[in-house]
Amino acid sequence: MLEMTDKIGLIGGTGPLGQGLALRWGLAGEPVWMGSRLQEKADKITLEINSKLNKQIIQPMTNKDCIQEADIILITTPFNFMIKTIEPLLPYLTEEKILVDVTVPLKPFEKGKMVDILSQIDLKAQSATELLRKVVPPSIPVVGAFKTLSNFTLRDIDRLPTLDQDVFIFSKDKEAKNRVKEKALKIEHLRPVDAGGTLSARHVERFTTFLIGLNRRYKTHDSGIKVSGLPTRKW
Ligand SMILES: NC(=O)c1ccc[n+]([C@@H]2O[C@H](COP(=O)([O-])OP(=O)(O)OC[C@H]3O[C@@H](n4cnc5c(N)ncnc54)[C@H](OP(=O)(O)O)[C@@H]3O)[C@@H](O)[C@H]2O)c1
Repeated sequence: MLEMTDKIGLIGGTGPLGQGLALRWGLAGEPVWMGSRLQEKADKITLEINSKLNKQIIQPMTNKDCIQEADIILITTPFNFMIKTIEPLLPYLTEEKILVDVTVPLKPFEKGKMVDILSQIDLKAQSATELLRKVVPPSIPVVGAFKTLSNFTLRDIDRLPTLDQDVFIFSKDKEAKNRVKEKALKIEHLRPVDAGGTLSARHVERFTTFLIGLNRRYKTHDSGIKVSGLPTRKW
């Protein structure tokens, strides 16, 4: 089956969130294609991650090579550069590939406060995933996921070897959602939750803003979400 062989790529994977996801997947034995605008930067970050994992499981490359090599491609750039980054790479996308939007339309403001920047980019889109969906050709599946995971929690594999959290996955494309779910399941204890269609991004992206506020109040970086009351049946 296709999902068994799907390769994960990270566009702009050199930042804290991309590094955290690469570490978690690497820990689980899942290879990751680490993309950057600069090959040297991808090389440096990959070396650090592979050393920490004590195995050669992350592959460094440019964003352009990454989008060609990988099947499930996460966009882990800041939100305000997501469209600018992905537009020139669109010719390399094929219908079998999946684009996963991980971005949250927030930017640090004064004294560590976060400000919503969605309206500065596009007044018509109400979430980052909807904006991406509008830009990417309809034949290419777009999924939103991993938006409520903290990079600090993800990167601290020694203190937190497993993640007891939910990850919300949403898209109108059920098969694409399933293929992303299979990758989420690789990360130990992370529970994928079928969060419906693309419009769910409006809620999920606000959860992240809320979690950042909790982190500030409780002086932590680790808050996350686990929904109670969901049946234990496997999605
Ligand atoms: N940080 C978190 O805990 C967290 C949690 C949930 C969601 N998110 C979302 O995940 C995304 C990544 O977060 P992050 O904290 O890792 O972001 P980041 O460090 O600000 O950026 C990630 C990477 O994006 C690339 N990048 C930076 N500026 C760029 C530009 N002008 N054009 C193209 N690429 C650029 C850089 O890679 P290269 O220089 O190697 O190209 C950088 O290493 C964000 O959209 C964020 O909202 C983050």
